[in-house]
Amino acid sequence: MPSSLAAPPAPLPGASLVPVHDAWAERDRHWWRSSVIYQIYPRSFRDLRGDGIGDLPGITAGLPALAELDVDAVWLSPFFKSPQKDAGYDVADYCAVDPIFGTLEDFNALTAEAARHGIRVIVDLVPNHCSDQHALFQAALAAPAGSPAREMFIFRDGRGEHGELPPNNWQSHFGGSAWTRITEPDGTPGQWYLHLFDSSQPDFNWDNPAVHDEFERILRFWLDRGVGGFRVDVAHALIKKSGLPDWGGRADGSSSEGFPGHEAPMFGQDGIHDIFRSWRQILDSYDGERVLCAEATIDPLDRLAQWVRPDEMHQTFNFAYLHHPWNAWELRRIIESSLRAFDRVGAPTTWVLSNHDVVRHVSRFGMTSGHARPGDGLGPADPQPDYWLGLARARAATLLMLALPGGVYLYQGEELGLPDHTTLDHDHRQDPTFHRTAGERLGRDGCRVPLPWTADAPAYGFSSSGASWLPQPGDWAGLARDRQAADPGSTLNLYKAALRLRRKLALGHGTLAWWPEHDDAGVIALVNGDVLAVMNMGGGPVQLPAGELLLGSHPEAGRDGVLHPDTSVWLRLA
Ligand code: NOJ
Repeated sequence: MPSSLAAPPAPLPGASLVPVHDAWAERDRHWWRSSVIYQIYPRSFRDLRGDGIGDLPGITAGLPALAELDVDAVWLSPFFKSPQKDAGYDVADYCAVDPIFGTLEDFNALTAEAARHGIRVIVDLVPNHCSDQHALFQAALAAPAGSPAREMFIFRDGRGEHGELPPNNWQSHFGGSAWTRITEPDGTPGQWYLHLFDSSQPDFNWDNPAVHDEFERILRFWLDRGVGGFRVDVAHALIKKSGLPDWGGRADGSSSEGFPGHEAPMFGQDGIHDIFRSWRQILDSYDGERVLCAEATIDPLDRLAQWVRPDEMHQTFNFAYLHHPWNAWELRRIIESSLRAFDRVGAPTTWVLSNHDVVRHVSRFGMTSGHARPGDGLGPADPQPDYWLGLARARAATLLMLALPGGVYLYQGEELGLPDHTTLDHDHRQDPTFHRTAGERLGRDGCRVPLPWTADAPAYGFSSSGASWLPQPGDWAGLARDRQAADPGSTLNLYKAALRLRRKLALGHGTLAWWPEHDDAGVIALVNGDVLAVMNMGGGPVQLPAGELLLGSHPEAGRDGVLHPDTSVWLRLA
């Protein structure tokens, strides 16, 4: 016997849960408040030049497919000149395109074509660190200790009698010490430099005004080329606590016993806000509302919301949401606290379920035994996700997310229901996490596998030559874009329908209220305008209230007024 959701519809408690902020009056101007932004991971999107690595011409060629998805913008992960030690997040020249991706002319062609489709292009700004091959770091190595060239980075003398110990105990995100000792130009063992990531990624010294000048120049370089804004890498790390004190918590700054995350000396320091404000002024001096989106892992949400005050960033990814477990109570708590926290500063919440750093949500939701650290990847020796369970839940969760007011980021391939490659041979792994931890943490290659475009072509049409920098699983033909385009029940067509409807019904601009509490804790039900979105995260079927079925996460979902587990629907309330 299905339990019932048909509670009396009025009055909705919490109809003003999300008060309409004054700034929303201008909502049509503020495109980013409700935008859908599609993340492109260039090396895995489409390879037009046949070397097995995706490129800018490949992205241009793929734009019509994204226009069909009706996205507002694309965010391109780094395509700048780089030795590719961390897949481009080790930038050697911020104002040049790496030859593996193409040329600046290719970028101009891409933005022009995107504009024809009404799609903005957002680029990735990596201000915390550069590549050790960057001219500034090479100059620092060649200069003496204490010189202006060294002051661009965080060099310190080592501890111990001969300076043989790192200056503090900080650990790299990717494993091992966050310090590397250099050999001075005269051949003697010398100072140490800080790198919160790989040793090939030295951290800039943001206490030095010359670093500010350098990045203002970079911002203007891309703004002058018409970009729609920047996703800002590790935005919470730029300023370090003075004195660089030891830290007993985790390397990523997250809380551990005795070490609350808000005290991490390498993250979330107050001086950051002045940097964001100065960048915001620069962006605001350009036409067309260019945006800043912070990648910041900051707890709690109230503190994260400080990043998006009216004169700072426009958006910040909601990683608490990305990590939500398959649990309705917990999901409701995260949604509610997010909307409250961000509304307090007049900012939208920016929802996201997948990106290039975490196990894809199809695979996460398919893990019945749980998975502690999604950034560490899944390998052949791990329990394997249940693909079909994961896909059903991922489709349901995406539909629920698209009903929420605010902005949304999608990660390339999620519209195809791609899982992670969980049986990737270790020989193929490129993520520095794998190599710096001697394979203990597998890293993120599994979620970065090249996209399948055509079922029957070599490398599923990803590359014109059939080459692919990471091998694709052998059973992806059914997931290829061309197959899914022809199948009305496909994940691709679900995304298209949901995104079209989301825009038509202006759900991104809406407000949220909970459908009256129900005794079935496994159900999440929210009202946005006259749409009721319901997701069944419990174990049994649920009776839906009367209403017009607008869309279901599964072709049969909500038919006959019943919602089965692991599905979601949008209903127009009767
Ligand atoms: C966050 C990026 O998303 C990730 O891919 C990268 O490895 C680190 N920042 C370092 O830039």
